[in-house]
Amino acid sequence: MAFEDLKQKQSVMWGSGPYQGVSDHLAPAHDHLMRAIEPAADERWLDLATGTGEIAIRAALGGAEVTGLDLAPDLIQTAGTRATAAGATVVFEVGDAESLPYGDASFDTVTSSFGVMFAPDHSAVAAELARVCRPGGRLGLLTWHPTEGVADFFKIMAPYQPAPPEGVGSPFTWGDRDHLEELLGDSFELSYETGDAPQAGPSAEAVWDLFSAEYGPTKTLADSLDDDRRAALKADWVAYFEQFPSGDGVSQPRPYLVVVGTRR
Ligand SMILES: C[S@@+](CC[C@H](N)C(=O)[O-])C[C@H]1O[C@@H](n2cnc3c(N)ncnc32)[C@H](O)[C@@H]1O
Repeated sequence: MAFEDLKQKQSVMWGSGPYQGVSDHLAPAHDHLMRAIEPAADERWLDLATGTGEIAIRAALGGAEVTGLDLAPDLIQTAGTRATAAGATVVFEVGDAESLPYGDASFDTVTSSFGVMFAPDHSAVAAELARVCRPGGRLGLLTWHPTEGVADFFKIMAPYQPAPPEGVGSPFTWGDRDHLEELLGDSFELSYETGDAPQAGPSAEAVWDLFSAEYGPTKTLADSLDDDRRAALKADWVAYFEQFPSGDGVSQPRPYLVVVGTRR
């Protein structure tokens, strides 16, 4: 029952923005994961921390029998609406990746795209990934680079918010292969690919407008600050994104890791 209060806050925080406008920019990474782990007809597929269902919907359209689970009820609702619009059949459920409501070995494939890395207890998540994936089954994760890209803008937000409670794992260590081997290497044979899903926008300010309206962690933080602190955070954010001019706007490199595993 570790971190229950924190996860309760996180379920509200992740659902506080509609998220879809942010997730759309992750399409190169989502497509990369789907190429690395192609769905087979009728296989049982679990997409954890599914958000608005990007991977779950792709897997279902590819023929898998898909369950998508997320901590945030508001995002699960959006995922269901999106799946219906896409003509995909997915069972979406609210739940916690650290304590899954599924039996041992009940899935052929388990995925999570920039998802389970945000759960506070890394060991609990790793144990659940191994428990619900059948022997010979597949694991597919997307995680962010440990120090660059998305890690950078979490560093920008850090001085404006309280430090996480002691014992909470940093999400970005899921981008470190040594950490992954330690967490998952006994249960899965692992291999890795890398890629980039840049955050582009017409201006640095437009990227701020998107994230402060649609991305739960940034929106929740911005909404919690008084006017001066909010303006200071925005100025830091805009200065950071202005380092990446591209064409008529900006494009921030966001390196990621694709982790592919076979359950031992
Ligand atoms: C950055 S979003 C990624 C969403 C989606 N997988 C994608 O690629 O667009 C992170 C997601 O992790 C979910 N999440 C965070 N902690 C979780 C937990 N303990 N159990 C289940 N989902 C969790 C959040 O609610 C959020 O939807």
